[in-house]
Amino acid sequence: MTQAVQVAGAGFRPYEVRVGRGLLAEAAEQLGDLLGGRAVIVADGNVVATHARTVAAALQARGVAVSIIPVPPGEASKSWRGLETLCDALLAEGLDRRDVILALGGGVVGDLAGLAAALYMRGVDFVQLPTSLLAQVDSSVGGKTAIDTAAGKNMIGAFHQPRRVLADIDALATLPLRQLRSGWAEVLKHGLIRDAAWFDWLAAEGAAGAQGDVAALEPAVVRSVEIKAAIVSEDEKEAGARALLNLGHTFGHALEAELGFDETVMTHGEAVALGCTLAFRFSAAQGLCAAGDAMAAARAFDAAGLPTRLEGYGPLTAERLIARMAGDKKAEGGRLTLILARTIGDAFVQKDVDRDTVAAFLKAEGAR
Ligand code: GLY
Repeated sequence: MTQAVQVAGAGFRPYEVRVGRGLLAEAAEQLGDLLGGRAVIVADGNVVATHARTVAAALQARGVAVSIIPVPPGEASKSWRGLETLCDALLAEGLDRRDVILALGGGVVGDLAGLAAALYMRGVDFVQLPTSLLAQVDSSVGGKTAIDTAAGKNMIGAFHQPRRVLADIDALATLPLRQLRSGWAEVLKHGLIRDAAWFDWLAAEGAAGAQGDVAALEPAVVRSVEIKAAIVSEDEKEAGARALLNLGHTFGHALEAELGFDETVMTHGEAVALGCTLAFRFSAAQGLCAAGDAMAAARAFDAAGLPTRLEGYGPLTAERLIARMAGDKKAEGGRLTLILARTIGDAFVQKDVDRDTVAAFLKAEGAR
């Protein structure tokens, strides 16, 4: 059964995130009201021969003209060059305002195609068709679009909300286990931020979702999207509550950067898992939350096959990690801002965190 989660905020047109099985094959029905005479599918190269064909066939059967623009898989496509290539391809297609862009793939394609949609003719409609768990529960919802530059990841972008999101649970069946688990880190993150009872369910009954169990994945995607939608509805532009979604990201981003953003060493979801664990342990070390909560958070990530310790990631120095954390775009004036927790399900933004305290904590965690 398809479930619809509404994303509504003061500054944008409301839209639905539809979650269910077989939605890509039903793209014509699911998107019927949004389709003009033509659709351009911007597809991750890995799904061109599979999901892109499914979507194209569904739309063509309804008389919609379809073009497919493949995007080379991998983060490197989220670049000035990748954006230029995509915008040029859209121009070559002669796309106009009545047409719609469909972003089909994981976070890279969603972010890139979303930004191209924000820029093309000063903004055209786009739809997110996320095929990775991470994209379904996080990046496809909320309108953040971006590319990376030499100065950092996601530094150039725009808020441009999609007109609809179709999260097809069946698309997750073909994901490599490591990628699926990485998405699970964001699922657990949402529970840690806002919903303790939900986190408990994920850690117990729902835990099989991290291994690809559809019966657990479907409710996991729905509830994650509900939590994210509620936060985005409150604060589209990250002036307040939306920053909570960065739980684990300041520690995690510093780790990813120190490891050269090498996904073979640490995926983004693994960084989020370790980052959330560190944020909870730091909160506990500061007396802000109970040690038992930090342990429960770590246990859930560990059970999903996600990292919870710095050990094994080569020489990491506290000094360099802190420098990365201070350079994080969420840092204000070089001071450290962290998302910490009072308990599971109650995260908060802590500004002005003392660097030396964080450095001592990281050393206790095994950094040099
Ligand atoms: N992924 C964090 C956000 O959408 O705000």
